[in-house]
Amino acid sequence: MYYIGVDLGTSAVKLLLMDAQGTIHNQLSLDYPLEFPRPGWAQQDPEDWKRAVLTGIPRLLAGFDAGQVAGIGAGGQMHGLVVLDREDRVIRPAILWNDGRAAGEVDYLNGVVGKKTLSQRTANIAFAGFTAPKLLWMREHEPENFARIAKIMLPKDYINYILTGVHCTDYSDASGTLLLDVEHRRWSPEMLELCGVEERQMPRLFESYETVGTLLPHVADALGLPSGVKVCAGAGDNAAAAVGTATVGDGACNISLGTSGTVFIASDRFSVDPHNALHAFAHADGRWHLMGCMLSAASCNKWLMEDIFHTGDYAAQQSPITPERLGRNRVFFLPYLMGERSPINDTNARGAFVGMSLDTAREDMTQAVLEGVAFALRDSVEVARSLGLTVERSMVCGGGAKSPLWRKILANVLRMELTVPVSEQGPGMGGAMLAMVACGEYESVEAVCKALVRVAETVSPEAELTERYEAQYRKFRAIYPAMRELFPKLQ
Ligand code: XUL
Repeated sequence: MYYIGVDLGTSAVKLLLMDAQGTIHNQLSLDYPLEFPRPGWAQQDPEDWKRAVLTGIPRLLAGFDAGQVAGIGAGGQMHGLVVLDREDRVIRPAILWNDGRAAGEVDYLNGVVGKKTLSQRTANIAFAGFTAPKLLWMREHEPENFARIAKIMLPKDYINYILTGVHCTDYSDASGTLLLDVEHRRWSPEMLELCGVEERQMPRLFESYETVGTLLPHVADALGLPSGVKVCAGAGDNAAAAVGTATVGDGACNISLGTSGTVFIASDRFSVDPHNALHAFAHADGRWHLMGCMLSAASCNKWLMEDIFHTGDYAAQQSPITPERLGRNRVFFLPYLMGERSPINDTNARGAFVGMSLDTAREDMTQAVLEGVAFALRDSVEVARSLGLTVERSMVCGGGAKSPLWRKILANVLRMELTVPVSEQGPGMGGAMLAMVACGEYESVEAVCKALVRVAETVSPEAELTERYEAQYRKFRAIYPAMRELFPKLQ
């Protein structure tokens, strides 16, 4: 049987067709626009996601026996606020995970409601990208739109709704709304009330590997699929990527170098970071995880390469960065192009190159960007280590992980052994694997991970290089505190 994995990302949807033995038979990616209506704001039209998925699936299946497709599972960009009216029309563009417009609502939530109360109710505090602050923003700034809301959902839930007609979500994605009581896996009545919404507007909650429904007959016809195809609840992209890299089991770690950069640490027990610097979320395997999320990771490199250097040849830009240059760069980069979430929670922060001189070359800047992202990920790893978690090795996935140079920098900055899976398609592969569990092909998420995830390569830190990077990391750590007060004045 075949399974379709959907990775509903920020720049594109990636679809893959996989069999139950883990062979990927076909894959394709369809881009859609991303709007930045103001600096630090980011939104997208859910209709673009829908179009991309509905036109992409028949293309994915061309030349294959569609009658053999048993299930579909999606991993999606988290936190995005998708709102539908009573006629199921999208009310406004989805406000995305990296949108900073709700900074004032975050101050209200964390400062007036209080971090302690929020953490008791939801296991988390407010960040501008989370869904609840955006609902408050909408209530304040777009009251007519807010009054029309009949259904609230997250990005991949909109796709599942189009496919099945079931208004649902899963616990991993719901964790990032700040509306879920994560520990007890139920909507928090206090948080719903605070945001002026009712439980009937919220999606029904499922475990990621549960079936939410089968394809609606007209959708099945349009896609050329049997109507008995099952759709599972799926997961937030980070939990789905963790499944796709077999990051299950206490202490297992996955680092994703995608548009965002995340450090994801699986846990058998529910626990909360006492300072809430790491998110405490549900995992797609029915358990939990802690996660640090930086808002701009591989996107910093993409920005430098494409928007500034006007090239698509990333490898050519990286080729002058020879091993003896590593850990010796005099240029540093703060990767806060969209503000930053973990661990500094500062929507005003912005990107910066520091330390340039007349002899600074393109490759120094390219290297500074790769290193700046690695240093910022290290900040989240340090928080995890300060909680007593042993993080000595990790899986690594996402587009950025394709660069051997970036992997080497990362292993040495983080002082960690990094393992690259055969497929770096974390969320899409994880989505397909969750669908396999939903269809009874495997009995659990652990079982499918054990059976299907293969290791391609391991990168180990090197003693001398980790020392050089240790000194560099200390310098990096001094830059943001020195600039913090400046950023709001630059807005
Ligand atoms: C996680 C987060 C990002 C998005 C990216 O909290 O905001 O990783 O899920 O798609």
